[in-house]
Amino acid sequence: MNILIIGSGVIGLSTAFELALAGHSVKVVTRNYEEGSSWVAGGMLAPYSEGLTGDLLRFSVESLRLYPEFLDRLQEISRLRIYFNRNGILRLFLSEEEYEEAKKLAAKNYKDTEFEELYGEELRKREPLLSGEPIAGLLFKEEGDVDAEKLMDALLFACENLRVKIQVDEVVSLEKRNGRIEIAKGLKENYVADFYVLTTGAWSKPLLDLPVYPVKGQILKVKGSELDKVYYSNISYIIPKENFILIGATSEDAGFDSRPTVGGVRSLLEGAVRIIPSLSEAELLSVKVGFRPGTPDDMPIFDTGENYVVSVGHYRNGILWAPISAKMVLDLVEKGDRSPYFDTFNAGRFSE
Ligand code: GLY
Repeated sequence: MNILIIGSGVIGLSTAFELALAGHSVKVVTRNYEEGSSWVAGGMLAPYSEGLTGDLLRFSVESLRLYPEFLDRLQEISRLRIYFNRNGILRLFLSEEEYEEAKKLAAKNYKDTEFEELYGEELRKREPLLSGEPIAGLLFKEEGDVDAEKLMDALLFACENLRVKIQVDEVVSLEKRNGRIEIAKGLKENYVADFYVLTTGAWSKPLLDLPVYPVKGQILKVKGSELDKVYYSNISYIIPKENFILIGATSEDAGFDSRPTVGGVRSLLEGAVRIIPSLSEAELLSVKVGFRPGTPDDMPIFDTGENYVVSVGHYRNGILWAPISAKMVLDLVEKGDRSPYFDTFNAGRFSE
């Protein structure tokens, strides 16, 4: 089948990769393949640390458990190695109240995963780099993180190896008839395909008229390799990669303002040093800015038509949700299997 994917963030490229691997002829049209927020993401795979529950938890855990095989396939086809840390995420708490609430949530919702409660002296003994501020932690052993930049590089390489054509153009309108897309109109040319996948991230509103808006995130890169796991608290997340550490992330309602700011950087540095004081000695390498595709209820937005799928609004968890989002499209195209998540997270919820 000839498939056109509009958008080249992690969702678009993962979907392109899976469809091309299954033998389809795939073209990706993108305004700018370096622009997607996926390049700036912390890469945490953290359904439990993020405190998710209900449908969103089930969806996230399913995707988390697809990760090892997804990365195996991707590494084989791209011939790149992708940093994948599976030492867990240590969710830290700065007050008794916060800790008690998290323990209650975990006891009720997280029965199918292993986690350890670390309190007071026990936490300090196990984690000597921590300051005295966190009073307790929950170590979620199944969680981890990937290097999102490496993941994106690998997706581009794998797509190239599978002969996916990546074309720079901006699709500005979709001509539809009887629930089918007939033409995707770009600024440079028009595109016609058997099937379309719309993965336009934070830039979805003008094309799809869906309530997706940019949530600005600033993230820092510092030098260092002394940490073995993610330290996640309400004042910062400290995410070690192979030779550097990411410190994230601000969350700002600032439209598409791509400027790093003094206030943003200051709050990230303060938050990180309050958790791990020795980070004040680390060399600051860079500041990056990305735009999460936010939605009014923080859930993704899916939809299907006769010959298309919409897969947008992946907000804070695009990296985590990439394998399952790609699989939903693959299963639909290959087997006609329509995942129940197309209904759970259907775009129609905003027009009711
Ligand atoms: N997933 C963390 C963030 O978006 O900041």
